[in-house]
Amino acid sequence: MGETDRNSPIGVFDSGVGGLTVVKELMEQLPNERIIYYGDTARVPYGNKSRETVIRYSREIADFLCEQNVKAIVVACNTASALALDELNKSVDVPIIGVVKPGARAAADVSRKGKIGVIATRATVNSGIYEAYLKGKRPEIEVFAKACPLFVPLVEEGLTDDPITDSIIHMYLDELLEKGIDSLVLGCTHYPLLKDSIARAVGKDVTLVNPAYETARSFKALLEEKGLLCESGSRSGNEFYVSDSPDQFRNFAGNVLSISIGAEDVKVKAFAG
Ligand code: DGL
Repeated sequence: MGETDRNSPIGVFDSGVGGLTVVKELMEQLPNERIIYYGDTARVPYGNKSRETVIRYSREIADFLCEQNVKAIVVACNTASALALDELNKSVDVPIIGVVKPGARAAADVSRKGKIGVIATRATVNSGIYEAYLKGKRPEIEVFAKACPLFVPLVEEGLTDDPITDSIIHMYLDELLEKGIDSLVLGCTHYPLLKDSIARAVGKDVTLVNPAYETARSFKALLEEKGLLCESGSRSGNEFYVSDSPDQFRNFAGNVLSISIGAEDVKVKAFAG
């Protein structure tokens, strides 16, 4: 890569709004980088779709980001990272990172007893990818994975701190607590937004691992290693693309994540099918 490439934007994508939790971490840890974000709001959720479909969608988006001359890509969606990252690695020319590996690595590092809970979409849980990475790092680890499909709509409805959400958290997580987990991976983009409620439910003996935070750290290290860190710059100029409902996207960013995005900064770019 030439000298100018380090000042190109980074590409980030997700099935919808959830990847903004990763954007928030990227903005904090890499304040000089300009971000081009794609949220596939017309085709969300990915979490109950087949591997083939998630790979097809992810390829379309990664190609689109490459057309915008991004210097590297963050797959800010656990489901797309679980099902499509290997395929994208084969077809995309720029460095690309997903959220699963950084999250799994951090969990393996923090777990004292080696009993780790993983909560995610059905597709991510069924892929077994967190378990594979965790056991690859520490073979003695026991993994207890649980799909929590109701968490995504609860977060999107703004019910991050609500008695209804508390009871659903217990419905999903009590069985993991009974297994004696000592750490819990929040393996879906939306779940870090439930961190406080989940922490209340699981108690202080269970360490929560946020893959969004870990991914931003790993991505920074990757850019450093490749000589691709931006020399200077500012956050202004970030661009957001969605496949549908730009206003809903902006509202979510503002209300739930305190990321303020101007109306003119969200464009609609849809793919056929
Ligand atoms: N972004 C997805 C993930 O992190 C959650 C929403 C969906 O199912 O598409 O797995």
